[in-house]
Amino acid sequence: MAKKSENKALATDHPDLPYVGAITRYLEKDAPSDIRKTIKKADKNGILSKTYPYPEEMKSKDYDAHMELLQLQLVRMMRDVIHTGKRVVVLFEGRDAAGKGGTIERVRENLNPRSAYIVALPKPNEREAGQWYFQRYVDWLPAQGEIALFDRSWYNRGVVEKVFGFSTDKQRETFFRQLPHFEGMFADDGITLVKLWLSVDRAEQLKRFLDREKDPLKHWKLSSIDVDGLAKWDDYTAAIHDTLTRSHSHVAPWTVIRSDDKRRARIAAIQTILHAVDYVGRDDALIGRPDPQIVGGPELLS
Ligand code: ADP
Ligand code: AMP
Ligand code: MLT
Repeated sequence: MAKKSENKALATDHPDLPYVGAITRYLEKDAPSDIRKTIKKADKNGILSKTYPYPEEMKSKDYDAHMELLQLQLVRMMRDVIHTGKRVVVLFEGRDAAGKGGTIERVRENLNPRSAYIVALPKPNEREAGQWYFQRYVDWLPAQGEIALFDRSWYNRGVVEKVFGFSTDKQRETFFRQLPHFEGMFADDGITLVKLWLSVDRAEQLKRFLDREKDPLKHWKLSSIDVDGLAKWDDYTAAIHDTLTRSHSHVAPWTVIRSDDKRRARIAAIQTILHAVDYVGRDDALIGRPDPQIVGGPELLS
């Protein structure tokens, strides 16, 4: 495994990776000055968001201890899902660098990949672009005994497609009109649907992009959407508020998780999933209640 120092050396010269360097240039030239200052004076374990309820990230000892218990519960949950033929869908949504991929990895790491699989679809191809918008997602819904973990989902139509103009206003309205019917059919057919929105603030997002830029192991996570999206923070905010308020219902509610601290966010995400599934051997006391200071509905969005 490459050491951190080697990673840094490798990161300096990448003609094939056009986005590497673009984040630092944004920080130096275009970022709002308060964001730049917040990043420059950040200390190691400190949380950048001034409105986050904790000044520092969770201690690793506490995190590891709780995470181990939650992992054991996830294994029990999976066993029950397989034995009773349950079907579970978990959506991981959020801005770029909100921590979706890392959280999904923690959910999945001790589960059977045949039962718990990740769905991370690329942008629609030409044929898919001409289909019913939900059609390609339906292919990936779980059969009995399966847990589908969606890294992004049909909510692209509400947020990134709006911000970048990838679909028309008419397509977006059709999406919101069909959405309650589509998600309503999950419950009607016995599929458990969990919708998680991971929320990060602007300085934290930029810091994570900078970290990705420095680390060749993370370069694959950087895309033109990330770079071009930097200047569209407020457009994203508007599209996110609109989408979450229009898609938060009794049948398919959102759980918003303030994810500026990745550790607390991962714990909260797994707690939310475990509470949503009724499985043999569930130990509510051991799972613990999600921290109401960082977990709630769309009202938690800043
Ligand atoms: P990710 O953050 O998932 O690694 P990106 O930041 O590159 O990926 O893109 C964000 C989302 O926008 C992805 O789900 C991608 O499929 C979608 N997307 C990118 N380009 C288009 C496009 N032209 N039309 C529709 N969706 C797109
Ligand atoms: P509107 O619904 O037009 O009020 O837009 C809400 C937000 O999304 C605003 O901040 C717009 O700037 C942004 N927005 C709307 N449509 C597009 C588009 N096609 N491309 C980029 N941004 C858009
Ligand atoms: C994201 O949220 O952009 C990534 O998918 C999650 C990560 O690994 O940080």
